[in-house]
Amino acid sequence: DDAVHPPKYPWDHKGVFSALDHRSIRRGYQVYKEVCSACHSMQYVAFRHLVGVSHTEEEARALAEEYEYPGDIDEEGNPTTRQGKLSDYFPNPYPNEEAARAANNGALPPDLTLIVLARHGEEDYIFSLLTGYYDPPAGVEVREGLAYNPYFPGGAIGMPQQLYDGGIEYEDGTPATVSQMAKDVTTFLRWSADPKHDERKRMGMKGVIILSLLVGITLYWKRQKWSLLK
Ligand code: HEM
Repeated sequence: DDAVHPPKYPWDHKGVFSALDHRSIRRGYQVYKEVCSACHSMQYVAFRHLVGVSHTEEEARALAEEYEYPGDIDEEGNPTTRQGKLSDYFPNPYPNEEAARAANNGALPPDLTLIVLARHGEEDYIFSLLTGYYDPPAGVEVREGLAYNPYFPGGAIGMPQQLYDGGIEYEDGTPATVSQMAKDVTTFLRWSADPKHDERKRMGMKGVIILSLLVGITLYWKRQKWSLLK
C-alpha cells in the first residue's frame, strides 16, 4: 500500500524476558476510557479482566458501576437499567453499526480489543497513527471530514486527531503528553489483544530452563555409558 511505514520503537515488553509494563496498562486504560471509548468498543474485555492486571477488585468494580446496562423487564413490561458489575463487558458507545457510521461521517470505528494484532506494524503502527497527524503536504487534498495521516493506508483517515498534550490528567501524575498517552494506550491494547503475554513468556522461560537441564543430564549420562568403549 501507499502508507508510510512506522519506525520501530523500543517497547519495554518486546524482549523475550520482558513483561508488559502494568503501570502503563493502567494509564492506557485511562486513555481508552476518557478518549477512545467515546467511539470505539472493546467488546471482549470485561471489567473483571482488569483485576490483578491494572486494578484491584474494588477499583474494577467501581469502574463497572459507572456504567448502566439493560436490566430486567419490570412488572409492567418495561425495560429497566441496572448498574454495571465486574462480569460486564465494556459498554458499546453505539447501539449498532449504522449509528456508529452516522456519528463518524460514514467511517466505522473498529472494535479495539484485537486491533494491535489486526494491523501490520502492530504497536509501532498504532503509536505512529495516534501521533501522526500533520498538515497535508503541498498538493495533497484531503476530503472534507477526513484527516491527513501518512501512516493510514491512503493517507486520509476518518478519525480526527485524538491526543493533545494535557488532554487528560493522569491519576498517577505522569505528564500526559501526546507520546506518553499514545504509548500507554498502545500498551493497554497489546494487553487486551494478548492477555496471556506475561504468562506465555514465563512459561517459555521455564521450558528453556527445564529443557537445558534435561539436555545437560542426557549428555552427561551418554558420556558415562560410552566412556568404556572409546
Ligand atoms: C479508526 C484507535 C479515538 C473514530 C481507528 C483505528 C485505530 C484507532 C487503531 C484503526 C485505524 C486503521 O484502520 O488502521 C483509536 C484510539 C483512540 C481513538 C487508540 C483513543 C486514543 C477515537 C475517537 C473517535 C474515533 C474518540 C471518534 C470521535 C475513529 C473512526 C475510525 C477510527 C471513525 C475509522 C477511520 C477510517 O476507517 O477512516 N481508531 N481511536 N477514534 N477511529 Fe479511532
